[in-house]
Parts: sequence; C-alpha cells; structure tokens
Amino acid sequence: MSVDAVREVILKRRTIKPMQYSDKPVEQAIIDDILETARWAPTHKLSEPWRFAVFTGGGRQKLGEYMSGWYKANTPEEKFQQQKFDRLLSVPASSGCAIGIGMHRDEGERLPEEEELLTVGCSVQNMQLLATAYGLGTFWSSGAIGFARETANFFGFDERTRSLGVLFMGYPNCEWPVSERRSLEDRVITHR
Ligand SMILES: Cc1cc2nc3c(=O)[nH]c(=O)nc-3n(C[C@H](O)[C@H](O)[C@H](O)COP(=O)(O)O)c2cc1C
Repeated sequence: MSVDAVREVILKRRTIKPMQYSDKPVEQAIIDDILETARWAPTHKLSEPWRFAVFTGGGRQKLGEYMSGWYKANTPEEKFQQQKFDRLLSVPASSGCAIGIGMHRDEGERLPEEEELLTVGCSVQNMQLLATAYGLGTFWSSGAIGFARETANFFGFDERTRSLGVLFMGYPNCEWPVSERRSLEDRVITHR
C-alpha cells in the first residue's frame, strides 16, 4: 500500500459544487464503484445504517423539481428568492450524479443515534475519496431540505430512515480548488 497515495487522495478531496461541473457524464460503472466503498466504512455492531438514493439521467431533473418545490412550499412569501428557487431546480441536472444520503435506525435501536450518524458520515467520506481518485468533485449538501422528513420520503426511504442531505458529484470544469486548514497545534492534547 502506498502511504503517499492514500494521503494524497485525502488531502486532494475538495468540495466542488454542481455549477462548476462540466457536461461530461459519470459512467454507471464508476458510480457503482464509488457506492461500493460506502459499505466498507467502520460500523459498530455491523449495523450498516447507510441508505442511498441514486439520481442519474432524468432522475436528476425530478430531484431538482422536488428541491425547488420544497423550498417554495416552506419559505414565507416575503423571504422567497427566485434566484434560489432557480438554482435548486437546476443544480441536480448540472451534476453527473446525485446521491441522497440516509441513516436507518433498527427497530431495537441497539446503538445510540450518534453512532449511526457518525458511521454514515464515514461512508460518505469513503465515497468522496474514491470520487477524488476518479477526478470527480463532490459536494455534500445538507441544510433544511436535506434534513426534512419529506426529503427522506421523496428518496423512497422508510419511516425509520432519516435523510442527511445529498452528495452531488461531477467532473469539474474549473481548476481543482485548493483549501486551507488550521494547524492542529491548539486542537490536540497529548498525554504522555
Ligand atoms: C455533513 C456536511 C454537510 C455539509 N453541508 C453543506 C451545505 O449544506 N452547504 C455547503 O455549502 N457546504 C456543505 N458542506 C461542505 C463544506 O462546506 C465543505 O466541506 C467545506 O467548505 C470545506 O471544503 P472542502 O470540502 O473542499 O475541504 C457540508 C459538509 C459536511 C461534512
């Protein structure tokens, strides 16, 4: 295993939003390969709480109609912004693929919800890392729409599955972005 290659993909992963994607489609085999990494996230008691709703082709347009419709229905008239509505309508179709992210809780609730949320986060990062290796930008969009109960229903998730947002992906038509992080100096306490 190449330590440098693993580090490189972790450091290179970037949030790139759908408006910065090219028209180049993402092949189904690549989407499948990316999804496959999700199930290898660490998962306490092997609960495997991740659920995904994959939107490709015309499904992306339906997602845009849903998201913009949700925004309109849930925004007071005086706060409604046509620009935001238009963006929500067009964003999914601008992406190569959009993946609705879900967290399922088993009937017995064997694990605290925090653990199930964390493991889904790990599964999403697995997908983001392999997407990076494929040269794909990704964008995890959460917010009010992402967490709404109606969104989980729209994704086709059952009543025990919460929506945690959407992971968009696509080939960037821009320079690969650079980012910054603060030093760990005042964020790590070492006990020796
Ligand atoms: C759980 C989660 C939810 C996020 N939701 C949003 C969001 O709703 N809107 C947004 O602009 N970015 C969202 N992001 C992406 C962050 O803005 C992004 O990771 C951050 O700007 C750092 O950039 P990087 O991903 O390129 O390192 C989310 C990230 C995570 C982990």
